[in-house]
Amino acid sequence: MGASAQPSCGPPTPRDAEGPFYKPGAPKRSSLAEPGAKGERLLLSGTVYTRDCKPVPHALLDFWQTDEKGDYDNAGFRYRGQMLADASGRYRLETVLPGEYPGRPRHIHVKVQAPGGRVLTTQIYFGNSGAPAKLTAKVAKREGALQAVFDFVLQ
Ligand SMILES: [Fe+2]
Repeated sequence: MGASAQPSCGPPTPRDAEGPFYKPGAPKRSSLAEPGAKGERLLLSGTVYTRDCKPVPHALLDFWQTDEKGDYDNAGFRYRGQMLADASGRYRLETVLPGEYPGRPRHIHVKVQAPGGRVLTTQIYFGNSGAPAKLTAKVAKREGALQAVFDFVLQ
């Protein structure tokens, strides 16, 4: 197969607003769920791809979201964390379903960056929120937890 016959992962994942609550320097971790958190457990996973559908090994993912009540932690780093995708571009985040806050559907903010690449800043939405389909994770309930799948396509 020539390069022109490579499968396409479709257009790059759209950007979305960073919003006012990003804080650099979140701890490296794959679980944001606080001990005793009352929010519904959510497992968000997927793969980071290039435009020609190759996985991006060790992409950096920097997540931030509200707690189940819709509040950001602006003093500390609750519900904020960074991780690296594995050698196959896969990532897996354990968290809770973020709350709604006035004027916004539930969402998780994320910055995704291939090693040495440009930063994609966007937001992931859930269910029938009115948000763009290209930014909406597929969600299923399995083994008592919400399992959401979202793949990124980097520019
Ligand atoms: Fe937000």
